[in-house]
Amino acid sequence: MVDDRSESQDTTTTNAGIPVPSDEHSLSVGRDGPLLLHDAYLIEKMAQFNRERVPERVVHAKGSGAYGTFRVTEDVSAYTCADLFQPGRETPMLARFSTVAGEMGSPDTWRDPRGFALKFYTREGNYDMVGNNTPVFFMRDPQKFQDFIRSQKRDPRTGLRDNTMQWDYWSLSPESAHQVTWLMGDRGLPKTWRHMDGFSSHTYQWINARGERFWVKYHFQTDQGNDFLTQEESDRLAGEDADHHRRDLFEAIERGEYPSWTLRMQIMPVAEAADYRFNPFDLTKVWPHADYPLIEVGRMTLDHNPENHFIHIEQAAFEPANLVRGIGASPDKMLLGRIFSYPDTHRYRIGVNYNELPPNRPRVRVRSYSKDGHMRHDAPDTGAVYHPNSFGGPDAARQEGEEQAGWRVEEADLVREAYTPHRDDDDFVQPRALIRDVMDDAARGRLVSNVVGHLSSVTDDGVLSRALDYWRSIDAETGERIAGGVRGA
Ligand code: HEM
Repeated sequence: MVDDRSESQDTTTTNAGIPVPSDEHSLSVGRDGPLLLHDAYLIEKMAQFNRERVPERVVHAKGSGAYGTFRVTEDVSAYTCADLFQPGRETPMLARFSTVAGEMGSPDTWRDPRGFALKFYTREGNYDMVGNNTPVFFMRDPQKFQDFIRSQKRDPRTGLRDNTMQWDYWSLSPESAHQVTWLMGDRGLPKTWRHMDGFSSHTYQWINARGERFWVKYHFQTDQGNDFLTQEESDRLAGEDADHHRRDLFEAIERGEYPSWTLRMQIMPVAEAADYRFNPFDLTKVWPHADYPLIEVGRMTLDHNPENHFIHIEQAAFEPANLVRGIGASPDKMLLGRIFSYPDTHRYRIGVNYNELPPNRPRVRVRSYSKDGHMRHDAPDTGAVYHPNSFGGPDAARQEGEEQAGWRVEEADLVREAYTPHRDDDDFVQPRALIRDVMDDAARGRLVSNVVGHLSSVTDDGVLSRALDYWRSIDAETGERIAGGVRGA
């Protein structure tokens, strides 16, 4: 702090640090006269207030999070040379959990997938894992994301969310069946954010120090145990405490009950991908654990709440584009689309220099040749503003003998077509297995009742009949139970 000449530490100041004459009275011509434009403090207060909000996230608007640490407990250096996954390493991190379709003020307990976004401040730059609490997603081509989201958000005419639009989209998009089965089951209403798992959902690449490559999937399994709300509990909480999940996380951490998740990986040698029974890059599919068992890596623990929600959570900018040495993307078309989308939305939502904001700022020296733009306050640490230069500016890292992330692409024509199918690729096989092999009778009963309840406000007969066929295709018996429930409703 420089020499502070304001009268005392408690004096209110303008944003420029000048002591203000009054917190309550505007400058007027006499006690009862008009106000004056040159009351700069009044104008500053009004103008600042008018600009207090940044746009909310176009999806995942409602959420919250906390800081913590990721500790590596096992040795997975045979699979990746990423610094944050080396034995014994501890890396500071930020997590943000969210709902997807609701706006900033919407209830935490509406049925929805939950976002599970992690930012690791590694010694080699920021690594972000931007996943969900489900291992799959509604589609496998990024062309369809925008249409899908519009079907889940509000009808532009009525301003209402509309189950007819939702089932119209889903029933016309059979690849959504697996994710919709997760969503309509217990995992669609987690008890708290502490009681849910997080998944990369996508397949990523890991590269070890010998340059060997693996396809991998991340599973952050809750150490609190998976638990869920019933539809009735969640409806009640939506009214009684719309911020139930946000409050739960904040208060648990304040009490010193630090939630943790164990990271376990599925790892597939690259050579096995071509002949695997499912397309390993199709985001609507899981790799059954019998094929690729979970391998333990370490534990993430959230142990401190941000000092200010807006600064640290609202301004947090997660992006699947942040991949560090030893970790790469995969041919999953959804992931490739997301790598463009997130930095683009951050530049729009919080500005081109969003990486200088506290939750996004890397904990390593940044030596980028990017410069200037709105709200820039750090000069680039490069010594020159262009490359190449004769003044000692940084050069790209050329690691001797090290394999970069990547994969071989066969020579092919440019096409707009679906993935080449693998042997067991079918949109209904995996959701059917989820209902028959993973759910017990009680969970199947809740699934049926949740779907019947959800379908009860579908107003179009064609959409309703297609939605019933969709469930019959997933599982004939479940489909008939749902149809019976809808008829009896
Ligand atoms: C947030 C786009 C698929 C997880 C967002 C945001 C956009 C977006 C624009 C707002 C980001 C912000 O304003 O900060 C897309 C596109 C997708 C896609 C274009 C597909 C092509 C997915 C998938 C997952 C996912 C498959 C999970 C596996 C998330 C999460 C957030 C988010 C967790 C919230 C991040 C946070 O907490 O700030 N997405 N998304 N998205 N997305 Fe996606």
